[in-house]
Amino acid sequence: MDARFAETVEFLRARMPVPPVVGVILGSGLGDFAAAVEDRLEIPYAQIPGFPASAVVGHAGTLVAGTLAGVPIVVLSGRIHFYEGHPMSAVVTPARVLGLLGCRDVVVTNAAGGIDRSMRPGDLMLISDHVNLFGTNPLIGPNDDSFGARFPDMSDAYRADLRKLAKAVARKVRVPLKEGVYVGVTGPSYETPAEIRAFRSLGAHAVGMSTVPEVIALGHMGVGVVGISCITNMAAGVLRQPLRHDEVLETTRRVKDRFVRLLTTLVAAMGEGRSPDRLVVVPTRKAKVAAKPGPAARAKGGRSAKASPRGKR
Ligand code: HPA
Repeated sequence: MDARFAETVEFLRARMPVPPVVGVILGSGLGDFAAAVEDRLEIPYAQIPGFPASAVVGHAGTLVAGTLAGVPIVVLSGRIHFYEGHPMSAVVTPARVLGLLGCRDVVVTNAAGGIDRSMRPGDLMLISDHVNLFGTNPLIGPNDDSFGARFPDMSDAYRADLRKLAKAVARKVRVPLKEGVYVGVTGPSYETPAEIRAFRSLGAHAVGMSTVPEVIALGHMGVGVVGISCITNMAAGVLRQPLRHDEVLETTRRVKDRFVRLLTTLVAAMGEGRSPDRLVVVPTRKAKVAAKPGPAARAKGGRSAKASPRGKR
């Protein structure tokens, strides 16, 4: 393993009771999901050797390891953005670490502006593909062959089987889920209306300032990705109103119960290797209080926390 990552991975492995199977990267204002993790171990990014620190409002910057319905997971609550001035190598370090810890699949989430007129603030959008408008690529530079090929294929970057699973989970937990293309830009200024019109003509449905670098790095490592955008606002020029970061956070607060419900059952299904027609709803904390134990409670028996995941390398 690359020496730059060895210390980070050893530090985390020494503290985790079991290697993770699924990783989750939480976007702006979406940190609530981390509270659903059981037997939690929380480590602020600042205490993890080799981890760059994130400082944006709404980004906690904490790694949470534990289990969800018996599935060993690692959640990255808060991400490192390119617009903070970090080099691309730092932006993708946390995602790389998820792969090196043994995560077979990763769920990436983000807050995004709706470009397509069918989108509404509060919608959740399954990412079918992306357009990289960062003007750079995290793989530029000498290729690390231990991660993957020099010219990795990106045609199934948002894996078709995982998208199928996510759609089935959404139906099962009754959370409406749209689907579309995410265009990634550097920010930090929001886009101009002319840019949004251009992105629409490129086939994009939503725009955001993250995700694309991580997905490229994970794809390079052969880690399966499923992406979910929370449409927090309509993109510039769609409505006659200015864009505010506050609105982004307000919308994520409004959506968080739905988002956690979807993500919880999705992560459990991914960890258990379930097919779309054999899903078990995992109760969220709210549902646990209200509902009497049903089939969902049995989800816990699905996969032993001791089971060893298929390590990538
Ligand atoms: N543009 C870019 N990034 C975003 C937006 C937006 O409108 N909303 C949330 N993240």
